[in-house]
Amino acid sequence: MPISLPTPELIARGASLLQAGQLVGFPTETVYGLGANALDPQAIALLYRTKGRPLHNPLIVHIPSLEEVASIALLSAREESRLELLEPFIPGPLTVVLKRREQVPPAVSAGKETIAVRAPSHHVAQQLLRAAALPIAAPSANRSSYVSPTTAQHVYDEFGNEIPLILDGGPCQVGIESTVLAIHEEEPLLLRPGIVTIEQLESKLGEPVRRASFSPQTPSSPGQLLHHYAPHTPVAFLDTIDTSTLPPRTALLAFAPPPPELLTLPFREICTLSAHGDFEHVARCLFGALRELDKKQLDLIVVERCNEAGVGLAIMDRLVRASATTVRQDGRYTRTTKRA
Ligand code: TXA
Ligand code: MG
Repeated sequence: MPISLPTPELIARGASLLQAGQLVGFPTETVYGLGANALDPQAIALLYRTKGRPLHNPLIVHIPSLEEVASIALLSAREESRLELLEPFIPGPLTVVLKRREQVPPAVSAGKETIAVRAPSHHVAQQLLRAAALPIAAPSANRSSYVSPTTAQHVYDEFGNEIPLILDGGPCQVGIESTVLAIHEEEPLLLRPGIVTIEQLESKLGEPVRRASFSPQTPSSPGQLLHHYAPHTPVAFLDTIDTSTLPPRTALLAFAPPPPELLTLPFREICTLSAHGDFEHVARCLFGALRELDKKQLDLIVVERCNEAGVGLAIMDRLVRASATTVRQDGRYTRTTKRA
């Protein structure tokens, strides 16, 4: 079993594995990552193969702190001053997209001229980065297009013994992937909403942040293709289904204890994410709950909508993706084929 508590010896083992071109599963405060040496094109190729990730979808490079950004990305004076303003989130659950330095292999960012950089704050990620003394390229440690992992066990469920080491840092505190913000553009552009909200970014930067088009036809970020984050079980929003003909094994995934009128519907199971509808708590539990429900041979998972303010934007983003390939055919809910 490659899951291990992060003792100093195992952190050192993780560092040696990374230096030797191997992959290591490790915790961050957002979700678990599958790490590889960002400066080793062969390790990057192994990472894409193992995850089954399309080669056009670039990776995030992880570094210990703001100081190392300049070793990965080219910084103009404007970008430097934006980074300074974003310092409260670095290290933290914010990824910035900048111009890539030539020394960073193009394969890391799928041949793009830009590069995504993040300093995770989780103490195990910090220790691993410092012990390896390398930038670590890491996507979320799930097979491409499935739900991101928020525990070491989730990573093991996906990859088993295919990766030599998974460092167990406990359940992730944030629970959804980092906010991705492009700051090399004229106007900062939000590519993926997360726990660091657009409102917080605008307030720190003192300028407007544009929201990228999340349309599947013209994604601004390759990872924003709509078929991401989906469990195998069909997922649909409550307001899009006919509740008088619920399939027999339907679960309700609720943000808060459901109102009485919902309790009269014949749900096989109701999973409540937060006792008081606290959206940070909802974010923390969302992926774990989707994974648990996905094991139960259900016909359908019904989800609610929330207001797209604050963290609500990120939660809706993940749920829209989770439900995007669900279709109703002959009275049954199924998924259209998920494209890579
Ligand atoms: O919280 C996280 O960000 C986690 C942990 C492990 O750090 N990582 C993660 O990585 O979610 P991944 O590969 O699953 O998602 C990276 C996202 C994708 O949507 C990708 O398209 C986008 O970042 N991205 C990466 N590089 C980019 C670039 N140069 N330009 C635009 N988008 C980029
Ligand atoms: Mg991912």
